[in-house]
Amino acid sequence: MGYLSDIMKIQVEEISSLNGTLILPCFEGCEKPPSKTMNEVDRLTRTLIKKILSSEDFIGKSEESMNVYGGGNKAVIVGLGKKDKFTTKTARDSGAKLFAKLNKKHGKTLTLRFSSDWKLDTMNAFVEGMILRDYKYDKYLSKNDDEDNDNSPYNLHVQCTPKNVKPLSELCEESKNIATGVHLARDLGNAPPNDLYPMAYANMAKDWAKGKDNVSLTVIDWEGILENKMGGLENVGKGSSRKPCMVIFEINKPKKGKGNPPIIVGKGITFDTGGISLKPGASMDEMKYDMHGSATVFGLMQALHANGHSEHIIGISCMAENMPSADAYRPGDVITTYSGKTIEVLNTDAEGRNVLADGLWKSGEFNPKFIIDLATLTGACVVALGHEASGLWSNNDDLLEKIRAMGAQVDELAWPMPLLPAFEKEMTGSKIADVRNLGTSRWGGSNTAAAFLKQFVPKMSDDKDAEQYPWAHLDIAGTAWGASTNATVAHGATGVHVRTLYHLIKNDK
Ligand code: BES
Ligand code: MN
Ligand code: ZN
Repeated sequence: MGYLSDIMKIQVEEISSLNGTLILPCFEGCEKPPSKTMNEVDRLTRTLIKKILSSEDFIGKSEESMNVYGGGNKAVIVGLGKKDKFTTKTARDSGAKLFAKLNKKHGKTLTLRFSSDWKLDTMNAFVEGMILRDYKYDKYLSKNDDEDNDNSPYNLHVQCTPKNVKPLSELCEESKNIATGVHLARDLGNAPPNDLYPMAYANMAKDWAKGKDNVSLTVIDWEGILENKMGGLENVGKGSSRKPCMVIFEINKPKKGKGNPPIIVGKGITFDTGGISLKPGASMDEMKYDMHGSATVFGLMQALHANGHSEHIIGISCMAENMPSADAYRPGDVITTYSGKTIEVLNTDAEGRNVLADGLWKSGEFNPKFIIDLATLTGACVVALGHEASGLWSNNDDLLEKIRAMGAQVDELAWPMPLLPAFEKEMTGSKIADVRNLGTSRWGGSNTAAAFLKQFVPKMSDDKDAEQYPWAHLDIAGTAWGASTNATVAHGATGVHVRTLYHLIKNDK
């Protein structure tokens, strides 16, 4: 599969021989090539690089870069901005932007040389930026044999000081494995909805799980949904000829007992027309991304598995296609969810929350440590936060803070939003059902959606006053695609929060 075979090949070594194009990152104000970085560079190229660095033409500001073609070697000098302002974010962005500037003429073999000014985390972030940006979705483009359609992976030689070789090598290996998960999530997000429908996702998950000893995969198909009375999935999905399903990934299931796994739940609407409450036509094609929550779940499983994650973890994807038809659910319907709670459907376009109701409730059967759901849930969240941050709601301050802090650390921002009792009251105020799927006005639409989801978070025991499991909700409507400021992706699906959740789960003790 593409996300595995196309991934960049990386070798971390001491500064030694020069293979392919030299990538030379330089901080602002750097007047000459840092020591050793000119190893094996031919005389003419070396002279040119020295000239460029000592001149006013290149100061080393971020975004700045210069191609040097002259003698036997090719080189790209990359500006990084001020050394004392350099962070993992600027490092990652610099790596990604550098990669975006590479073209055929640079070839597929690169030697990246870090001076001794670099720290492990910034070196890894720079390389990570390059790997993340090394992605294209060209599956549906006709290939022209005589053109040089070289789809072979890049070979990156990362060269650094001797003491950093081993630790950096381990970090880069991990980043590369995580990136296979990010790229897989993007592949799923970018896939056209005629080919990626609910059972197509389920079949891909089955193929993925095949031969992986510590993975078990369960698909609750249409019959299973009816048998289990999963009314959220059933009703949203029944208008489509492509029937809904629930896909459950389980890694490292304990031999005995239930374990205490983190559970990640994803909204997987493979296409959202709005249903009978039909959406307007403009940009409706973008609703192919409405399954990005489930794309992140799948990508996260890949990232964890590829890195040999040894703890118990569960992913649940709620897959359906929201279509208008003679069989579709309607505004006015009252539906019964898997939890037994009823929903008054006031708008069939507020479908994500209906399918998540069943996914969240299903989580309660696995003794979860915590539950995090991801969903392209509301346009209102994009109004609130634009494309810069996902909305973050939680019933647990510790969990919220962990997600916020990790999101900030890996530059996938998750912004705290209010889960107020007033919003819950609004959503439980239906006269004829337990919950309504639409607020009473359009104000605070992403908050009322979160308050709706909270009604389906399972409790820790059957006791009436029992507490709910720790739960957090990420509204990724603005971050799953369309962020022009996200340097790690050229266009299309972003694979957002695979990295956040990978590190969160890995570091959660
Ligand atoms: N998938 C959409 C939300 C969405 C819209 C994400 C635009 C990204 C960009 C969701 O299913 C939806 O339609 N939500 C409605 C909810 C409303 C009917 C309460 C919305 O946001 O308009
Ligand atoms: Mn919708
Ligand atoms: Zn939707």
